[in-house]
Amino acid sequence: VSLQAVRVELGERGYEVLVGRGARHRLAHVVPERARKAAVVTQAAVGLAVDAGIEQRRFVIGDGEGEKSLRTIEELCRGFARFGLSRDDVVVTVGGGVVTDVGGFAASCYHRGVAVVHVATTLVAQVDAAIGGKCGVNLPEGKNLVGAFWQPAAVLCDTEALDGLPKRERVSGLGEVAKYAFLGAEGLERLPLDDQVARCVAIKAAFVVEDERERRGRRALLNYGHTLAHAIEAASFGEGPGGGPPPPGCLHGEAVATGLCFAARLARRLGRVGDDRVEDHDRVLRECGLSPILPPGADLSELVAFMRRDKKARGGLTFVLDGPRGIEVVEGVSEAAVRAALEEMPPG
Ligand SMILES: NC(=O)c1ccc[n+]([C@@H]2O[C@H](COP(=O)([O-])OP(=O)(O)OC[C@H]3O[C@@H](n4cnc5c(N)ncnc54)[C@H](O)[C@@H]3O)[C@@H](O)[C@H]2O)c1
Ligand SMILES: [Zn+2]
Repeated sequence: VSLQAVRVELGERGYEVLVGRGARHRLAHVVPERARKAAVVTQAAVGLAVDAGIEQRRFVIGDGEGEKSLRTIEELCRGFARFGLSRDDVVVTVGGGVVTDVGGFAASCYHRGVAVVHVATTLVAQVDAAIGGKCGVNLPEGKNLVGAFWQPAAVLCDTEALDGLPKRERVSGLGEVAKYAFLGAEGLERLPLDDQVARCVAIKAAFVVEDERERRGRRALLNYGHTLAHAIEAASFGEGPGGGPPPPGCLHGEAVATGLCFAARLARRLGRVGDDRVEDHDRVLRECGLSPILPPGADLSELVAFMRRDKKARGGLTFVLDGPRGIEVVEGVSEAAVRAALEEMPPG
């Protein structure tokens, strides 16, 4: 197999990200040498077999945002203990962002931290969730409120896994890809899929290296499109009525696409960009096959309230916005401008 390698240069915490079809077959080569057991955290729907080359046991977690909970962490860690997983062993996640977030966080705290290797099987996980060490779970009070920075020992982005993804998941993931087109990867939407993933990984890696723990603010730019996306997800909490599939526009990547479309309009409202930049955003989203919408029945006041509570917002409404100096964090945006930009959005 021919794989592309992207290194995340973080000194002793540095690691390799391998991208391409069949990347999962490199697992045995990338687990730490000292590891004797591998706890494989995955979901039933993922259905991807991996071979860590050492004794391994599968730990299957449930599906959806609701499973990103402290209860799941407790169950996993108890399972690891019964399996006899030691500090020298390894956790292997095989799945999308839910699995890498939950499995990564369990690895970060089990025995005060064991190695983790992510085998990322969705676009969102490959270009975002599995890279950079952020992991964690939700509380009823909000998404991702409990977590850690825990860098993996390696990441395998197996693009073959994407073949098995439901169409909606695939397209949704392109919302995250589209974000990178505005963060330094012009023309990204026209590359072959493997190259798209590798390019996104390289951009994310560069941001992570510059600001590993999101202290200096640069890494915050990765949240382009995410302030509204998180509000949409929080408002619906990612699940449809009765635990069914999320309503249209509510999958993470779908919400990011909507967030990007909105961010361009908000930037225009604030006089930071002209119509051409808004059209650029719309074109990239369109070429990625995305049609950004506010979820049906979205309550604008509720969305604004959630955006005020965004953890990046220190005072008032804070967004990552395009402008004459490129994309940057903009604080103290007026509620009137936000509402006006929301009203410009295509309805669900
Ligand atoms: N830590 C970070 O930096 C970061 C970044 C972005 C997103 N996230 C988190 O990631 C989550 C979203 O991740 P996601 O979009 O990957 O969703 P997901 O993990 O829920 O996966 C989507 C669905 O696809 C299934 N699936 C996964 N791989 C498959 C495959 N190869 N074939 C068939 N089905 C497969 C899953 O079982 C699930 O049902 C959110 O919780 C978000 O907060 C974290
Ligand atoms: Zn995201």
